[in-house]
Amino acid sequence: MRKKITVVGAGNVGASAAAWLAEKGTFDVVLVDVVEGMPQGKALDLLQVGPIVGSDAQVIGANDYGPTAGSDLFIVTAGIARKPGMSRDDLLKTNTGIVKAVAEQIRKTSPNAIVIVVSNPLDAMCYVMKRVTGFPREQVIGMAGVLDSARMATFIAQEVKTSVKNVNACVLGGHGDTMVPLPRYTTVCGVPITEIISKEKIDALLKRTASGGAEIVALLKTGSAFYAPSAAAVQMAEAILYDKKQVLPCAVWLQGEYGLKDVFVGVPVKLGARGLEQIIPLNLTSEEQSALHKSADSVRELQQITGV
Ligand code: NAI
Ligand code: 2OP
Repeated sequence: MRKKITVVGAGNVGASAAAWLAEKGTFDVVLVDVVEGMPQGKALDLLQVGPIVGSDAQVIGANDYGPTAGSDLFIVTAGIARKPGMSRDDLLKTNTGIVKAVAEQIRKTSPNAIVIVVSNPLDAMCYVMKRVTGFPREQVIGMAGVLDSARMATFIAQEVKTSVKNVNACVLGGHGDTMVPLPRYTTVCGVPITEIISKEKIDALLKRTASGGAEIVALLKTGSAFYAPSAAAVQMAEAILYDKKQVLPCAVWLQGEYGLKDVFVGVPVKLGARGLEQIIPLNLTSEEQSALHKSADSVRELQQITGV
């Protein structure tokens, strides 16, 4: 039997995730949104991709959670993206309400599902999801590090003119201005970039990585990135549903690891059938450790503002 994945939010990120998933043919997909007819229309369109790419995946759209019952995994993309004139707190308030409503439905209809959160502000929305579902930390995982690391890897591959397959990038911390790219743990064919790229160039690459989302918003003007974010969420879903034991940077609920407690922060984790299976410790310098703690402090502030 194919595993069932529900994607909540059928906008740019959600519909793209559903498209990547449906094309694989190994999962059935339910696409949920509050807009009447929209998830149904997109699902029907995606279903008709099947004969072209040879996928028998079932794709259905819904405005309620009936068809999602018993899902193995959720990808939650519901929410608004920040628009000009909106404060971070405005975004936080609106998306807290949305993610709370989604979490209540997931808890009721698919209590054993693993949830990948994408909605922003990412780390705080993971917190809302975990608090409202009451799920153990293994079941609630945030997508940000995979995207931020992919951005960093893209820029490094361009810089050293090599295949992206040769690059392994590592970005920890919260998804925002305080993210913590780690050049010492970022390698090209196993060689740390600190040995092959000048400090000035690395600094410029890190700066571009940290503002990678904003760079795309400035170009698009009407929304934010969605192809790479949706591909990142799907990579995490596959790692879990195929029990790959793959190590990826993800936002997880820390309980003392890295000297941090009761906060969602991006760290390297092993993903497998149980969701979060292990948190991988890295030896950090005191500078890297304090950057991670600073990032965690800003997530803590947002967690508190959610009031959940
Ligand atoms: P979008 O506006 O295209 O889609 C959001 C969808 O959510 C809309 O179709 C809307 O109708 C739906 N929605 C709103 N309330 C809902 C509810 N209660 N239940 C179900 N659906 C609901 O936005 P986009 O570009 O898809 O982004 C979605 C979210 O993902 C945003 O918060 C964005 O900031 C975030 N994001 C996070 C990334 C990350 O790295 N974690 C990367 C890219 C986007
Ligand atoms: C991004 O990094 C907006 O969080 C989103 O593209």
